[in-house]
Amino acid sequence: MSEKIGNQIIRLKEIDSTNSYLKARKNLLRRHGLVVIAEMQNSGRGRAGRKFTSVIGSNLTFSVVLHPNLPVQEIQIFTLLAGVAVARVLENYVNNIRLKWPNDVLVNEKKICGILLETITIPDKSFPVLIMGIGLNTKGHINDYPGELQNIVTTIEYELSSISNKTLKTQMAPVLKNEKIFQQLLLELDSCVEEFNPVSINSKINEKYHSGRTSLLQEWLLRANALGRNVCSFYNEAERSKDSGIIGKIVGLTREGYLQIRTDSGQIQTHVSGDIIDMKG
Ligand code: BTN
Repeated sequence: MSEKIGNQIIRLKEIDSTNSYLKARKNLLRRHGLVVIAEMQNSGRGRAGRKFTSVIGSNLTFSVVLHPNLPVQEIQIFTLLAGVAVARVLENYVNNIRLKWPNDVLVNEKKICGILLETITIPDKSFPVLIMGIGLNTKGHINDYPGELQNIVTTIEYELSSISNKTLKTQMAPVLKNEKIFQQLLLELDSCVEEFNPVSINSKINEKYHSGRTSLLQEWLLRANALGRNVCSFYNEAERSKDSGIIGKIVGLTREGYLQIRTDSGQIQTHVSGDIIDMKG
């Protein structure tokens, strides 16, 4: 992964989804570090087939092509890496940032950013290519979002204005520039890839690289305030609707970046996919 992230940027006015745009263009997927950013996504996608809602001029929605040269089962850690990079940038603007497994960034427990990681195989490449999609709510008020999201989401601008009773201050507007935040995110993603350099778990490469993975997992756990947190984990929507998840305490992450939960009976369960919700107590 020698090329810098953002070495080439494709800027689009409006598109269905920047992840879908890349998925449909295999030639672009050959370029590690290429970024596609759209001013507006009209069909943004989230994890588990959910929607990612954009408000015109108020979000940063972009996707990055990465060639980590890792098998698909070791790719999950890049969602955690993206979360750490976003949190580091957000720290310049707001407080009370928390990461939530696997792909959410929260501010004051409201979602401000989602990450969608997709892998795709292209001819002549032995490892899958990664499309890392990031959607960050930068500007505007929560009332700009559909009613069902207003209690769930937040924006940087809204959080900055919370000091003033959540009324947006017009003088804030010139301070927050989507382009500046975008450039900060690209730089931070690039340094995180360099710093953590998640090589394959099984590779014989030297200790320095393996310790990159360990420091990433540690930073993620800290930023998620995860250890000891009481959660319920659902493997899929069906389990969720039946309320039949696994209840326990988070005790760590596997080397791949999966959540480890200790149940009341003392068993350690590895949560690979699906939703995690916080439990009281
Ligand atoms: C989620 O919250 O589940 C993930 C949301 C990811 C949204 C970003 S925006 C850029 C990229 N294009 C998409 O369609 N989705 C991701």
